[in-house]
Amino acid sequence: MSFRRIQVRQLSGAGGAEITGVNLAAGADDQTIAEIRRALLEHLVVTIPDQPLDDAALAAVSERLGPFGLEPCVEGSETHPNVIAVVKEADETTRFNFGGNWHSDWSFQDTPPSFTLLHARELPPVGGDTLFANQYLAWESLSPGMQRMLSGLRGMHSARRPYGPQSVFRKGILRSMKIRTGEEALAERAHPIARRHAETGRTALYANQGYTIRLEDMTEAESAGLLGYLHEHSIRPEFIIRVVWRPGMLTIWDNRAVQHMAVNDYHGHRREMHRTTIRGEEPLAA
Ligand code: SIN
Repeated sequence: MSFRRIQVRQLSGAGGAEITGVNLAAGADDQTIAEIRRALLEHLVVTIPDQPLDDAALAAVSERLGPFGLEPCVEGSETHPNVIAVVKEADETTRFNFGGNWHSDWSFQDTPPSFTLLHARELPPVGGDTLFANQYLAWESLSPGMQRMLSGLRGMHSARRPYGPQSVFRKGILRSMKIRTGEEALAERAHPIARRHAETGRTALYANQGYTIRLEDMTEAESAGLLGYLHEHSIRPEFIIRVVWRPGMLTIWDNRAVQHMAVNDYHGHRREMHRTTIRGEEPLAA
């Protein structure tokens, strides 16, 4: 499909695209936004370099894609309640970083975010990339027998491990982030493992290591074998899209079609990103 307002260059075999020819801070017309959305649905992850956005401008761009999602576990920044700062300081040499486990954003919500926008404010000299895994490919490469079995199953999603009362984050790890932990993170929500994308109609595998804690009507121990296999499968190298950041780059991804993780390989350097989410729909069964 051709684009008139933007240039689009695919980033890897698994998807991802770089968009150029856009200045979002100067205001983008409706056709430009529609083309960005089309590129996002087609390529799952888009990077838009050289966008000097403050929080108000990031929020304004976000709202062109839909209403804000709810941020259950991190407080908004002082400048905008729907923008969260994802920060790791140079002296925080912890092995835990925000988003460092494979996950789809806030998948434990009733209506998890469709899109996430992440804007690079300060980066380490090297490292701090974000990895994405294409979950359409993950689904399509399963055998017909496995697909048939999974089609009847729902995964139970919960924020318990990263944000529950026992979370490592409750100890003040990542002190520059306003992370909330507590009992409310214990809630569980069922979503189909085979998820039909509400806009593209394609089926994606929808189970992630961060939040899918068990299968519906099964214990964690009973679920561990199959979920473990699905987690391994869902991040195979041929499904991966790697985003190497540059200051001022905006990346937008579709949580309905990818999982992601932030690589924690830049100890001794500061990294600061600002993030918004766009409210999605209740996940549909394929
Ligand atoms: C996230 O999971 O949203 C954080 C991604 C990143 O910091 O690269």
